[in-house]
Amino acid sequence: MPYGRQTIDQSDIDAVLAVLKSDWLTTGPLVDRFEETAREVTGARHALVCSNGTAGLHLATLALELGPGDALIVPTLTFLATANCARYVGAEVIFADVDPDTALMEPHHLKEALARAGDLRPVAVAPVHFGGQVADLAGLSAVARTSGLRIMEDACHALGGTYAHAGNQVRVGACADSDLAVFSLHPVKTATMAEGGIVTTNDDRLAERVARLRTHGTIREPSAWSDRNQGFTGETANAWYYEMPEVGLNYRASDLHCALGTTQLSRLDQFVARRAGLVASYDTALASLSPTIRSAGRRPDQSPGWHLYIALIDFEAMGTTRAAVMAALRQEGIGTQVHYLPVHRQPYYRERYGHLDLPGADAFYDRCLSLPLFPDMADHDVSRVVQALTRACGL
Ligand SMILES: Cc1ncc(COP(=O)(O)O)c(C=O)c1O
Repeated sequence: MPYGRQTIDQSDIDAVLAVLKSDWLTTGPLVDRFEETAREVTGARHALVCSNGTAGLHLATLALELGPGDALIVPTLTFLATANCARYVGAEVIFADVDPDTALMEPHHLKEALARAGDLRPVAVAPVHFGGQVADLAGLSAVARTSGLRIMEDACHALGGTYAHAGNQVRVGACADSDLAVFSLHPVKTATMAEGGIVTTNDDRLAERVARLRTHGTIREPSAWSDRNQGFTGETANAWYYEMPEVGLNYRASDLHCALGTTQLSRLDQFVARRAGLVASYDTALASLSPTIRSAGRRPDQSPGWHLYIALIDFEAMGTTRAAVMAALRQEGIGTQVHYLPVHRQPYYRERYGHLDLPGADAFYDRCLSLPLFPDMADHDVSRVVQALTRACGL
């Protein structure tokens, strides 16, 4: 049993096969169809598909025009890509600490990170909705507003969730409190397109930049061309012509990927509900083991699109180690994972920024273990995992 995996049915297979038999393998109609579905699912005005979540984060930093001398504030308990996207554009990373129980960056962590900016110009913050739980966007955006920061949500874990905004539940990705949000549709996430990402925004200008930069930075719309001499023959736009005002990338997603993504998004509510049911079963099964083994902390007023189920385990108190527990579970055919080594402790960032004291992230990292969570798990798999975990911990 892996810690996470995709859920594929015949409708996914049929959709991909239909593309293979069609005229368009890429840049075809399934891309538009997927983006339309992604707009519906997130509630954002614009949803731009791209080749993966990392590409989406890179496009977001490009769209926000981060560059050398600028800084992106990133919670250190995240996947590498949240920080690396700043480095791709020559900006620096200011690592923020996180809550030791939820792994979420709180407003006071953001303020503390801002206070460490020194000569850097903090331009944006990238809250991470860790494991599917939504960060305190109202609190973070209040700090961001007073500090002139843009907000790009790393929502790669959180597709399908909702959270309270001004008294209503809004969808993650609606950008009710942010400039942009980025999703990953990797196979372990709440819906998949094998490799794929989505950038959502309500800002027309940012959407136009993301769309342009994911296709080499080119403009195909004649009314937006700057060079009439090259672009037109008389009054007619030249059919072959396009313009590149700025260097971009090829971060497109193919029709094959978008076909799979569309059928997956049509079942997103089912996937999210099943994951929530499994989370509730884990909570019940772990309740009697607290505080030695317990679930990671929860934020109120939201309905997460759970990506991970993370147990916090006091390995030392039980006279064992995480490596030993993971090995024992593997012996029983149960896969687990660690999300994540705090990114500021990676050799690249240690070398660049030196030692940082971020005790909340260290405390979370020391105790965390991600248990299997995916819709195709059977109900009895949860008790099997918890029993095996109890044995592996010597309880
Ligand atoms: C928090 C976070 N951000 C970004 C990414 C990058 O997404 P992708 O793997 O689609 O490039 C991931 C992927 O695991 C992630 O977990």
